[in-house]
Amino acid sequence: MKKIVITGGAGFIGSHVVRLFVTKYPEYHIYNLDALTYAGNLENLVDIENKPNYTFIKGDITDETFIADLFDKHQFDGVIHLAAESHVDRSIEDPLAFVKTNVFGTVHLLNAAKKQWLNNPEGKRFYHISTDEVYGSLGAEGLFTETTAYDPNSPYSASKASSDHFVRAYGETYDLPFVITNCSNNYGPNHFPEKLIPLFINNIINNKPLPVYGDGNYTRDWLFVVDHARAIDLVFHHGKNHDTYNIGGFNEWKNIDLVRLLCSIMDGKLGRAAGKSAELITYVKDRPGHDLRYAIDASKINKELGWKPSVTFEQGLEITVNWYLNNSEWLQHVTSGAYASYYEKQYL
Ligand code: NAD
Ligand code: DAU
Repeated sequence: MKKIVITGGAGFIGSHVVRLFVTKYPEYHIYNLDALTYAGNLENLVDIENKPNYTFIKGDITDETFIADLFDKHQFDGVIHLAAESHVDRSIEDPLAFVKTNVFGTVHLLNAAKKQWLNNPEGKRFYHISTDEVYGSLGAEGLFTETTAYDPNSPYSASKASSDHFVRAYGETYDLPFVITNCSNNYGPNHFPEKLIPLFINNIINNKPLPVYGDGNYTRDWLFVVDHARAIDLVFHHGKNHDTYNIGGFNEWKNIDLVRLLCSIMDGKLGRAAGKSAELITYVKDRPGHDLRYAIDASKINKELGWKPSVTFEQGLEITVNWYLNNSEWLQHVTSGAYASYYEKQYL
């Protein structure tokens, strides 16, 4: 039986990846390694927590000895590495936390995998999940391809770029089998409500202001989280060793247009008069170093592995909004406690 460790499996994307692997591959044993920071939540995985091929391990990837011992104990065949500090605004407040988890944590995992696999790399794979933010910002035209030069602008993207470089360096220097993907903005169920879409859904429900940074003319390419998980499955099994793939939704939206769309969907769901939720839109101080536009050319993964998004934005948003409306307890749990003081500091 193959033993796969998925780091960050209690987070937003990680929980969807864990669910897909546990249910689709009963012949694998899936270990979910997660420190359960504010962003990690085992409520995301209640439906699969008792599956016989699933084990949750609470642990911190910044703890070098713990990671080394864990790999010695389990002798994993594969690593799918998603654990990270992931929010750009938090990285502006506390860059070092991002260096610790995203850079040091990744290097500890690389060292542990290298030790296990050095003389036995056959069938092994270190899969590093990364972001399109490593490429920096686009102007009005053009797309990020796999050969676009790295040019990160935020402490978050600088830490992810650094971790990508370390993964590639271990591949070249120690012949560690690896693959990297760089994905655009995800959305969907279980998304922590500090990010644009879930934050605004939550604020619309609660009649709170919708804080649009700057003039709102920033552009992101949105992908439904389950389609990202499907891409991860394909790349893990069929991606070329020592290679990298961009993943995107072919779905660019200016923030302000997306916010207006969300407001009109929510008006319908909440039985409000058309235009009511949009009255909550409030332009606020811009994010420092705010990247203007991200857009992915996902033709390589499409041509080589046959991947493309399976749901439209309309379908994905419908599923997402319904999920938040039906999971008010989840929202309540994650927005109580430490989240309240983060919110106050960031927005009030
Ligand atoms: P998230 O913040 O929702 O989840 C991160 C998870 O990592 C949490 O469960 C948290 O508990 C865990 N974690 C954090 N620090 C840890 C540590 N030191 N040790 C062990 N576990 C730790 O993040 P997400 O949005 O699900 O992103 C997952 C990965 O995908 C990240 O690497 C991120 O850079 C990347 N990514 C995210 C997006 C996106 O739009 N969200 C897009 C592209 C790439
Ligand atoms: O592109 C992939 C990246 O997408 C991932 O690597 C990151 O982990 C993920 O957080 C996301 O980064 P962004 O900074 O693009 O996502 P966020 O949801 O924070 O912001 C999306 C856009 O909305 C961005 O232009 C900033 C803007 N925004 C965000 C917030 C939280 C607002 O206008 N107001 C807000 O309150």
